[in-house]
Amino acid sequence: NTSVTSIKLVLLGEAAVGKSSIVLRFVSNDFAENKEPTIGAAFLTQRVNMGDHTIKFEIWDTAGQERFASLAPMYYRNAQAALVVYDVTKPQSFIKARHWVKELHEQASRDIIIALVGNKLDIIENGGERKVAREEAENLAQQEGLLFFETSAKSGSNVNEVFLGIGQKISLK
Ligand code: GTP
Ligand code: MG
Repeated sequence: NTSVTSIKLVLLGEAAVGKSSIVLRFVSNDFAENKEPTIGAAFLTQRVNMGDHTIKFEIWDTAGQERFASLAPMYYRNAQAALVVYDVTKPQSFIKARHWVKELHEQASRDIIIALVGNKLDIIENGGERKVAREEAENLAQQEGLLFFETSAKSGSNVNEVFLGIGQKISLK
């Protein structure tokens, strides 16, 4: 008695924060050191078994480069879930993430489920400098009602948990 739930999910965030790398890790359990920037957007799917049902993620991975900014509404308009991604070593990318959260709350589906994702945690674990405090991001997540994760697409740390968290929240609705 296995039911399948489809979830339309969009990734948003500044260029080079690791959106495509998070998707590559989730879909293929792989990582590329020199991943090329996304042009426009990419579409990928992945199925996950959750207890007695299956979730099929239909993933729109958008391009972060400014010249593609006008395309984003096409991808988030019908989305049930969004990952707003920033780089924990790039403060500017967190400012951009705040803007995305605001825009989603103003323009996207009223009941969209949003996860705030601080990526590239491996850099800090290997001695690099953290530039976005965990507490600052947690505060934003709490105020805005977002799920919150820090991930590394490179090591794979916490990537599946983001998608499972979204899946659980949608299943509970
Ligand atoms: P756009 O498509 O231009 O918006 O960029 P993006 O957000 O999809 O970033 P992408 O996944 O292409 O990654 C950009 C660069 O960061 C690549 O060189 C990746 O290898 C690297 N990168 C991505 N995730 C991580 C991570 O978790 N840790 C480290 N150290 N590097 C990462
Ligand atoms: Mg990309």
